[in-house]
Amino acid sequence: MSVVGRWIHERAPLSGDQLREFTNEPVPYHMKRWWFALGGTPAYLFVVQIVTGILLAVYFQPSSSTAYESVRHITDDVSYGWYFRGLHKWGATLMVAAVILHQMRVYFTGAYRRPREINWMIGMCLLLCTLGLGFTGYSLVFEQLSYWGATVSGNILDNVPVLGGVMKRLLLAGDQYNDQTLPRFFILHAAILPATLALLVFVHIVFIRLHGVTELRFPDEPADAPRHFNFFPDHMATELVMGLVLMIILSVLATVFPVVMGPPADPLTTPEVIKPEWFFYATFRWLKLFGPTFAVLSMGFIVGAMFVWPWIDAALRKLTGREEISVYVGIVASLLLIGLTTWEALVAH
Ligand code: HEM
Repeated sequence: MSVVGRWIHERAPLSGDQLREFTNEPVPYHMKRWWFALGGTPAYLFVVQIVTGILLAVYFQPSSSTAYESVRHITDDVSYGWYFRGLHKWGATLMVAAVILHQMRVYFTGAYRRPREINWMIGMCLLLCTLGLGFTGYSLVFEQLSYWGATVSGNILDNVPVLGGVMKRLLLAGDQYNDQTLPRFFILHAAILPATLALLVFVHIVFIRLHGVTELRFPDEPADAPRHFNFFPDHMATELVMGLVLMIILSVLATVFPVVMGPPADPLTTPEVIKPEWFFYATFRWLKLFGPTFAVLSMGFIVGAMFVWPWIDAALRKLTGREEISVYVGIVASLLLIGLTTWEALVAH
């Protein structure tokens, strides 16, 4: 062993064999298909968001009087500011999409069933944190969308029975949008939510290692096909290639569809058409269809049911004797989600 090697080994007494053992989780063969290993994609995009977010925070000034001008400065003047802002914005879009697709794959393969119920619930917290990051992110620019989006969200929270008033004041740092609101969104977006998400991803991965990934077998696989392959280096190499491909996609999106500035926030002018980001289209349409009180109560019920879905599913299977009952529920839910999102995307009001 070289002098440097000996120095390191004395301080970090870990051998190559121990390291291999520690990282070499056998990965089921079906994870060679990207669709089944989709969990790695939001994990990678989260790292991209942290790095680009820190770079943006160097110039961003989180107060209602300075935020808009500082984002304009990043977009127009700072070297490569437009590029890192584009990566951050498109990274957020792809991360939300990847989390939803990963959840769909887990759902439709029944990978949340006993004994993985707790990891499904941790996943639900990850979904809410990711959506929370998306919402607080676009609230920071202090455009019309930022101001009116926050105001509408405060009013929606106000309709929650009993706790509504407190939740609204916690979100807006007061009864309505004020000078403390944007700094509150910033601390949520840049500290509380990412730290929570990082902790949850860690626990999620600990659970995946404890249980292993659900084994799936495909009819087109020969019976003597290998059942597992090594995490390191095989799966790691696939993830690295996926990371590279995602980086290329993000760079192309940031360059071909650069992020622009919307009109600055004007508390005196309610915009004629107000739309949240695409990932809230379905909830926004639901709200318009049923009015705030029913929409808030029913959405609370739906999210609650999603949290405890592994147990609802077990009860439904026992009751009906049909293993595939969750597939029918999933198809109806997916069609509803796609239908409401498309509806909101196509109409002005
Ligand atoms: C930031 C968000 C998330 C990250 C980084 C993440 C990461 C991962 C990774 C790396 C895996 C290993 C298998 C795979 O790649 O599919 C996995 C599995 C799993 N995830 Fe996630 N996940 C996230 C969100 C979610 C959500 C929203 C749910 C559901 C509500 C969920 C539920 C599960 C379950 C139950 C498994 C075990 C699947 C199996 O055994 O096949 N995850 N996750």
